[in-house]
Amino acid sequence: MSQVVTETMVRVEDVHKSYGRGAAAVHALRGVSFEVPRGELVALKGRSGSGKTTLLNIVGGLDTPDRGRVLVDGRDLADLDEDGLLALRRDQVGFVFQSFGLIPILTAAENVGVPLRLRRADPREREERVELLLSLVGLADHAAQRPGELSGGQQQRVAIARALANSPSLLIADEPTGQLDAETGHAVMELLRAVVRSENVTALVATHDATLLDLADRVLELGDGEITEH
Ligand SMILES: Nc1ncnc2c1ncn2[C@@H]1O[C@H](COP(=O)(O)OP(=O)(O)OP(=O)(O)O)[C@@H](O)[C@H]1O
Ligand SMILES: [Mg+2]
Repeated sequence: MSQVVTETMVRVEDVHKSYGRGAAAVHALRGVSFEVPRGELVALKGRSGSGKTTLLNIVGGLDTPDRGRVLVDGRDLADLDEDGLLALRRDQVGFVFQSFGLIPILTAAENVGVPLRLRRADPREREERVELLLSLVGLADHAAQRPGELSGGQQQRVAIARALANSPSLLIADEPTGQLDAETGHAVMELLRAVVRSENVTALVATHDATLLDLADRVLELGDGEITEH
């Protein structure tokens, strides 16, 4: 597939999203527009219920807007069918969640390798990539440990390594430090900051964390389903 390299990694145009109907409808997003330039780390803040998760899910192709347009790496998500969205999530977008989302019975290394297995990468290539990623997140010595044997911060670092496995162009993180204490959260945020520089990735991160707001290239604020601050 030929693709023009755009300077804008994410373009969101007048996106609306409601849940439910009639009087009970919740308008989670009411006309959201913004851009994430390639290579930047953009933080998304806003109080609980302001629509951050809804917006991240739509940008990552996990959910669809009722109205408006989302372009990721120059591609309009409305033009993708189910298979196209699946390929987008597998090959182009890496997700990091508040609850880490690691598979308990797999080791750290095996968890990081899951996206590469799904892509049927060559086993040697997979092992090398997993080793590199675990070093990148400072966990080379913890490859054989299972999530239950790792601290919260270490688990989130495994999740970040896993999100980077397929060299995504976009990293989406939804309150990645929400379950961590302040100091551990700070370290995870600095890791994200470093990764955006070294891995040539663009990141959109929902957070309440003042640390990341300081480290971000720009901060967007959502209030009641609208961008209230650029
Ligand atoms: N599946 C759903 N069905 C119905 N309403 C929903 C659903 N998901 C979200 N909402 C509503 O949409 C609004 C935005 O929710 P969203 O999860 O996007 O907020 P958020 O900013 O991520 O909040 P938090 O900081 O607590 O994670 C809320 O009012 C929420 O109750
Ligand atoms: Mg949320």
